[in-house]
Amino acid sequence: MPRRLTRTEMLIGGYKFFRYLTRGGLFFINLEVTKRCNAHCNFCDYWKEKPPLELKDYTPVVEKLKPLSVGLTGGEPLLRDDLPDLIASLRQNFGFLHISLITNGSLLSKEKGLELWSAGLDDLAISVDYLDSRHDAGRGLNGLTNHIIAIAPELASAGVNLSFNLVMKSGNYKEVPQIVRECAGMGIRVSISTYNCWRTNNGSHMIGKDELRDLESVIKELKELKRTLGSPTNSYLYLERIPDFFENKSVPGCTAGLNWIQVTPDGMIKRCSDHPIAVHYSEWRRQYFEPTDCGYCWYGCRGSAQEKMTFKRFVNMAKDALS
Ligand SMILES: C[S@@+](CC[C@H](N)C(=O)[O-])C[C@H]1O[C@@H](n2cnc3c(N)ncnc32)[C@H](O)[C@@H]1O
Ligand code: SF4
Ligand code: SF4
Repeated sequence: MPRRLTRTEMLIGGYKFFRYLTRGGLFFINLEVTKRCNAHCNFCDYWKEKPPLELKDYTPVVEKLKPLSVGLTGGEPLLRDDLPDLIASLRQNFGFLHISLITNGSLLSKEKGLELWSAGLDDLAISVDYLDSRHDAGRGLNGLTNHIIAIAPELASAGVNLSFNLVMKSGNYKEVPQIVRECAGMGIRVSISTYNCWRTNNGSHMIGKDELRDLESVIKELKELKRTLGSPTNSYLYLERIPDFFENKSVPGCTAGLNWIQVTPDGMIKRCSDHPIAVHYSEWRRQYFEPTDCGYCWYGCRGSAQEKMTFKRFVNMAKDALS
């Protein structure tokens, strides 16, 4: 069942939102709970890197940073056996805190998903770039796609707020509208992000300038699907800027470091996933980072953070998370 906010949580939430609007602060943090990974993606190098130590408890981090929402990420977060406890301790200590999790789905079962949900998750996202074996190949995990397609609808119909996170790239962009339609048929919404080669220097997945006309018509179709199906979940503004990103390899106005930051497994702060470690969380303070002119990625979370926050948007996000 979707989580219901208590009256006290709603009051605290209203206060936190008012404080964010009037005094600033962090809209969200991405918390890498591990850098270990069981996949072998050819567009992300995390699985090749030596993983840092992992904190046992992230409540002091959240207490210090005071974000409105936390996205648990990795590496592959489900490699942590204590993940339900990590979620439960965040939920118990911070009533009004939106908690989401992104996973490659390989270690997810219906039981595990429900356990994470009961621990206090608000949103569960599974990465899906294709609905066939090309997804297995991209991740180096045989049988992954069939596994995801088998369990995701079960979790969604059991009340888990579940979506697929799809990275749009040269190999899949033309199919994205069809993927969105097929997912809608399974009762699952799609959130789009865009590929960038910052991590691996692998430019082969970038959408080329000669494909921009096709990309524009895909975006037009996606906007229509958003209007009719409510999926993809990204804003119209986000979708409209995707061709600009692939044309210019940059989108201005990034607010990474200002209203959102990335936290490594051992509690170090980075501006975003792709920038270097800057400071330990205990020494972080507001205005630690200067505004950046980097525009090198167009991740979904980056796009969402730089959109103007209005009370209407906040209410819609809360409704969305709790529906
Ligand atoms: C770094 S992963 C961590 C969570 C988990 N391991 C997973 O793959 O879902 C978070 C998201 O980043 C996406 N990602 C990885 N490399 C990327 C790249 N080069 N460009 C854009 N998105 C990327 C993944 O597809 C995934 O949806
Ligand atoms: S995208 Fe996710 S699954 Fe793939 S290597 Fe990176 S962390 Fe692992
Ligand atoms: S555009 Fe922003 S989020 Fe993307 S790499 Fe640059 S600083 Fe990081």
